[in-house]
Amino acid sequence: SFQQEKKLSEKGERFSSAGFILAAIGSSVGLGNMWKFPYITGQYGGAAFFLIFIICLIAVGLPVLLAELAIGRSGRGSAASSFVKAGGGKIWERLGLIQIIAPSMILSFYVIVAGWTLHYAILAFSGRLFVNEDFAGQFGSLVSGPMVIVWQAIAMLITVWVVIRGISGGIEKFNKVLIPGLVVLLIVLMIRAVTLPGADAGVSFFLNPDFSKLTTESALVALGHAFFSLSLGMGILITYGAYVDKRQSLGTATLAIGAGDLIYALIAGLIIFPTAFSFGIDPGQGPSLVFIALPAAFSEMPLGWLFGGLFFVLLAIAALTSAVSILEVPVAYAKERWNWSRTRSVWTMALICFILGIPSALSLGMVPALTFGGKAFFDWMDFIASNILLPLGGLLTTLFAGYFWKKAADAAGLTAAWFRIWLFMLRYVAPVLMLLVLLYSAGVIKF
Ligand code: PHE
Repeated sequence: SFQQEKKLSEKGERFSSAGFILAAIGSSVGLGNMWKFPYITGQYGGAAFFLIFIICLIAVGLPVLLAELAIGRSGRGSAASSFVKAGGGKIWERLGLIQIIAPSMILSFYVIVAGWTLHYAILAFSGRLFVNEDFAGQFGSLVSGPMVIVWQAIAMLITVWVVIRGISGGIEKFNKVLIPGLVVLLIVLMIRAVTLPGADAGVSFFLNPDFSKLTTESALVALGHAFFSLSLGMGILITYGAYVDKRQSLGTATLAIGAGDLIYALIAGLIIFPTAFSFGIDPGQGPSLVFIALPAAFSEMPLGWLFGGLFFVLLAIAALTSAVSILEVPVAYAKERWNWSRTRSVWTMALICFILGIPSALSLGMVPALTFGGKAFFDWMDFIASNILLPLGGLLTTLFAGYFWKKAADAAGLTAAWFRIWLFMLRYVAPVLMLLVLLYSAGVIKF
């Protein structure tokens, strides 16, 4: 165990303070905000849903985020062993394995979608996206053809290329270069979207709440999404926390990461909704919104190839900065558990996740037998990882930090008043709500 200790803190395996916050924002800002968030907001009532999302993010997301960072930094191990190294009993390590398995599952299909964004960026810039107007057909032929696996491999290789370079030379550097680029793209695209004719209707759909549309169901979906969006319940912030300097204020980091994610969601909404409304597109149409409906909008806009291309580059950056954070979780585990080198851990885990992703890639059209129980294999992976394992992982962290962790106060480094609020949320609010999300997503309770 002394050797393991040495491994995770070997030279170079530390974030700088700013680098850590950027990398954590890079993880949280991902396909979730841009690809999932707009269509669930569309489905569950627009602004009222967004408001509930913000409340969930602050009241439940941030306390759990802080708990994950504190456990990681205090234990300085993987997302499984940190619980024990931070002072918990052996059982927590076994339970913590959920937080190694879940991100591996997520990564397996996440890089598939990341691959689509790369493909679409190239299509848009080359003008080929707009040659015929059959956007549904184009998307269908991508996901049901063999190229989808090539793009999946490319996205995975980019992820490997970053993670293999380690924490400061790989993950931190990658985020430091790409996040500022992401901000520029967001602002350019937001200005384009809100100045489109008829954009107002989209802005008001997104920002003027109508509470009559709000249901218990939409509140649970909002909470689940706040978790996904902050990358919680997946061991990611535990793993990143293990590389954080001991002088870093975790409270400040938590606020910065939460604010980053929220601002991104806000801007993403201000890109998608005005564009959708301006071109008469239903924003609640589901996962195809970004890949089918928006290309139609871009094709009608002046300089659409440019804005469309930039939009998909933005999506690709968001996806890849999340993918590297997801891969680091099983990599840190393998390094520690089997004492492997970083290189060996990265290639092995990436290969496993890639192979695990192949049935998902094939299930979207190529192999009909991979659709069963009303869902494609792809959707099953997403469902099990995001809707079952993620709330389970979050519940675990919350219960550990709220009830079983004697060192919580020291590790979090909060003032006495904030500590009391934090503990209250972890003990009484977060677990109850998370259990509801879990039961709801598992289909045990219905509305
Ligand atoms: N938070 C990322 C997003 O919004 C996705 C993600 C989920 C990343 C879980 C890591 C773990 O897309």
